[in-house]
Amino acid sequence: MSDYSFEGRVAVVTGGASGIGEATARLLAEYGATVVIADIDRERASLVAAQIGDAGGDAHSIPTDIREEGEIQQLVDAISGRWGRVDTLVNNAASLELTEFDGDVLNLSPQVFLDTVRGSVFGAFLMSKALLPPMLDRGSGSIVNIASVSGMAGEPALTAYGVAKAGVIQLTRALSTQYARRGIRANAIAPAFVNTRNNETYASPVFVDVYRRNMSTGFTAETIDIARLVAFLSSEDSRMVTGHVIAADGGLTDTSPISADYVAFLSEAAQSAT
Ligand SMILES: NC(=O)c1ccc[n+]([C@@H]2O[C@H](COP(=O)([O-])OP(=O)(O)OC[C@H]3O[C@@H](n4cnc5c(N)ncnc54)[C@H](O)[C@@H]3O)[C@@H](O)[C@H]2O)c1
Repeated sequence: MSDYSFEGRVAVVTGGASGIGEATARLLAEYGATVVIADIDRERASLVAAQIGDAGGDAHSIPTDIREEGEIQQLVDAISGRWGRVDTLVNNAASLELTEFDGDVLNLSPQVFLDTVRGSVFGAFLMSKALLPPMLDRGSGSIVNIASVSGMAGEPALTAYGVAKAGVIQLTRALSTQYARRGIRANAIAPAFVNTRNNETYASPVFVDVYRRNMSTGFTAETIDIARLVAFLSSEDSRMVTGHVIAADGGLTDTSPISADYVAFLSEAAQSAT
């Protein structure tokens, strides 16, 4: 397993109070980073920061809604006043509660579409815009955007979420193209299904099974799998990687669309041959 030293570095993780963001905050702190959890859920963010502190790490909750420029400015002021630097920005937060109201184009409300985009790619844009200047001042930094396989292919019942995540991917490319020469790398990670607490509570077994059957690995990701990629993309080990999307999807998007059916067909054929 990799082991990085982020001593003296400051990492900002949006949505760091839960799921992938929480695992990322914990891991980066374990590797020595000062972690700023920028989450709308102040109670849970404080709890996670305190738990990281109890485990010997250095984490701080600065309540932030990524959709609000005023709150982001307060975050930037607090960081520059206290630490004077930002090395890693993880744009992870998203308004996931809205996916329940997402749907096909004919049935999707314009407001849900706008709110989904606002709570994802727009927030990532605002956060990047606000935290680029301190990174550019030092001439180094890494922005890691959490996208999704939903932004890489059409889906029957997710329009707004997919558009937002495709936007996150394009934002990543724009950031890389525009700022890599000045020392700022930007990459995206596209997970498929991740076993978060929320997914374990709300995702139906049938839905999870659709993913498992279509992933070459046959198993879904843990939050730590994504966190480890964030750590890699934040480290010097990935200094040649910028502007890319890494699909942490167990092979889902790199496999023939008929793979699940084909595996079932082969297994039935093998059974009838015995
Ligand atoms: N879990 C999955 O299966 C999966 C798959 C692909 C991509 N993703 C992406 O990974 C990211 C994290 O997902 P998760 O499953 O860990 O989610 P989660 O619901 O466990 O955590 C999301 C966190 O974001 C925070 N948040 C929401 N809106 C916010 C806002 N406006 N400002 C600040 N914080 C806000 C929430 O309070 C929460 O702590 C999301 O971008 C999601 O789209 C998740």
